[in-house]
Amino acid sequence: MSRSASHAPLRAAALALGVAGLLALATCRASDRGASGPGGGSRAVAADGKPDGAAAWETVYGVLQHPRCLNCHPAGDRPLQGDDSRPHAQSVVRGPDGHGVFALRCDACHQIENLDGPHLPPGAPGWRLPTPTEPLIFEGRSSGELCRQLRDARRNGGKSPAELEHHMLHDALVLWGWDPGAGRAPVATPQAAFAAAAQAWVASGCDCPD
Ligand code: HEC
Ligand code: HEC
Repeated sequence: MSRSASHAPLRAAALALGVAGLLALATCRASDRGASGPGGGSRAVAADGKPDGAAAWETVYGVLQHPRCLNCHPAGDRPLQGDDSRPHAQSVVRGPDGHGVFALRCDACHQIENLDGPHLPPGAPGWRLPTPTEPLIFEGRSSGELCRQLRDARRNGGKSPAELEHHMLHDALVLWGWDPGAGRAPVATPQAAFAAAAQAWVASGCDCPD
């Protein structure tokens, strides 16, 4: 008896989290319908007065496909490197927690900031790949595929739309894309334009192209 009683609060919390997740999904899906009509992609503002999420999404998508972002969101188990997104040197792999394995743990080479010089390891706090269970793959995803993946809390690391927006605007690994260290091109879209597009996309209800 005491056993199940002591688990009840946990179950209640899990249930609340589950409900919050469903609400988050509902938010994205509900407003989706209003904003995506035929040929709606070029409107700045949809008929219901919301920002045009599909147009904002294309700006977000362009950034997600930039090598500075794509290189840590690979389809396989190795990080990628360079503007041609080739497999990371030295057989570095994701590992069970995204931080690599054994002597090739990411933080054996990557520090919390860029090392100063070409071909030295770039760095930012928490440098790692997503985990194998939630790999958050951007590589090879079409615009519509990645859009639907990103707004799906079951495939985006459990993030609500607000958390997703916060991550895109403030996460250290994301911001690194505009300060990638010597010899690496920063993300081409200005950071402020990306932030505005990410906010507009979320405000639209995470509208996605077909
Ligand atoms: C043995 C050292 C070493 C280890 C371990 C290592 N890296 Fe690297 N990594 C480097 C070096 C050096 C570079 C820069 C190569 C260059 O610029 O020519 C680099 C570059 C990268 C880049 C490319 C950045 C870009 O956009 O071009 C990514 C992404 C990356 N590492 C991720 C990781 C991750 C994630 C891990 C752990 C799973 C990891 N690395 C483990 C040394 C290492
Ligand atoms: C050094 C590796 C690294 C780099 C570089 C990186 N990310 Fe990530 N990204 C991660 C990891 C690890 C997570 C999961 C951690 C978390 O959810 O807090 C993540 C999560 C995300 C998420 C949230 C979940 C989802 O559905 O994908 C978004 C969005 C994202 N990254 C966008 C970007 C963008 C945009 C850039 C480039 C400007 C970028 N990332 C660069 C490692 C990286």
